[in-house]
Amino acid sequence: MATHLITGGAGFIGSHLADCLLGRGEKVVVIDNLSTGSYRNIQHLEGRDGFQCYVEDIRHESLLNELVRHADRVYHLAASVGVRLIIEKPTASLINNIVSTERVLSCASRYRKPVLITSTSEVYGKSKQAAFCEDDDRIMGATHKARWGYANSKATDEFLAMAYFQETRLPVVVVRLFNTVGPRQTGRYGMVIPNFVCQALRGLPLLVHGDGSQTRCFCHVKDVVPAMIDMIEHPQAYGRVFNLGSDREVSIKGLAEQILGKTGSQSPIRFIPYHEAYPTGFEDMQRRIPSLERVASLIGFRPVRTLDDILTDVIAEMTPRLEEERGLAEQAS
Ligand SMILES: NC(=O)c1ccc[n+]([C@@H]2O[C@H](COP(=O)([O-])OP(=O)(O)OC[C@H]3O[C@@H](n4cnc5c(N)ncnc54)[C@H](O)[C@@H]3O)[C@@H](O)[C@H]2O)c1
Repeated sequence: MATHLITGGAGFIGSHLADCLLGRGEKVVVIDNLSTGSYRNIQHLEGRDGFQCYVEDIRHESLLNELVRHADRVYHLAASVGVRLIIEKPTASLINNIVSTERVLSCASRYRKPVLITSTSEVYGKSKQAAFCEDDDRIMGATHKARWGYANSKATDEFLAMAYFQETRLPVVVVRLFNTVGPRQTGRYGMVIPNFVCQALRGLPLLVHGDGSQTRCFCHVKDVVPAMIDMIEHPQAYGRVFNLGSDREVSIKGLAEQILGKTGSQSPIRFIPYHEAYPTGFEDMQRRIPSLERVASLIGFRPVRTLDDILTDVIAEMTPRLEEERGLAEQAS
């Protein structure tokens, strides 16, 4: 039985990874400062055999060192996630993403532990390629536009990972996650599916940025997590970067309509111009589709769950939560 350290394990993806590893009879240690994650995500694991949790920042060096020393695998998910957060808190977010990753890589290198670094499709920037391949050139916006800071902090993490591999042969793999979705994802930082589902269930307008013709590919977290485990276990993954996600496109307007249909909500769709939704100079990508050739040839990855499956799971999780909140609000009034 191996011990898996998950940084950011109380977050959306990290908590599903913990569930999956424990379900396979492995041991899991989570470290999370609960900045964007939530104890609620891992509450059900407390007291379970093989599970341990530290509510702490991973920049606490002596603790991180000990946790990495005792782990067999390290999954590094802790980060200030998403464009909206970087726009709101650029300094703290950039420092967190770069410094935390350097600390994790340095500890993993010290003890020769396999480590998986989670990067993002954002690193492709404004590229207009039909499907992004891992070795493609990247096209970034100007440095005064804070939204590009997220992509660049994650790209710096990738450079660091590749540098450690090149200089010390650290067994490190980088995965570029495309829109990963499912239960427990919060809408607080602008993630589109939890926001639309919440708006639909509350009977509020679904707020679509721009004209809604921009497309995205959504992948169920339960398809993503086992692939992450396969990749850290695969020696041929080390020193390489892999796209991970779905390549099935849907427009944001189409997504809103599908959510209205599935929830039976009478909410209207409201289109918000980008300059109202975000500060000046915000740039959005029209499409973002991964090439999955590399990950398919390494581990045979294909997402199996559809967008309909994703929405069924998110609606099933969110409905009782919103009802509970409504009940509490009624009691308080
Ligand atoms: N969800 C997606 O679609 C997506 C897409 C691309 C990349 N990613 C990457 O996947 C990883 C996980 O993302 P997520 O969607 O689960 O987001 P999340 O915000 O739910 O998870 C991140 C977790 O890291 C924790 N954290 C942040 N800084 C920390 C620190 N210094 N010390 C300890 N804990 C810290 C947060 O509290 C949170 O629980 C991130 O690295 C993110 O950049 C996610």
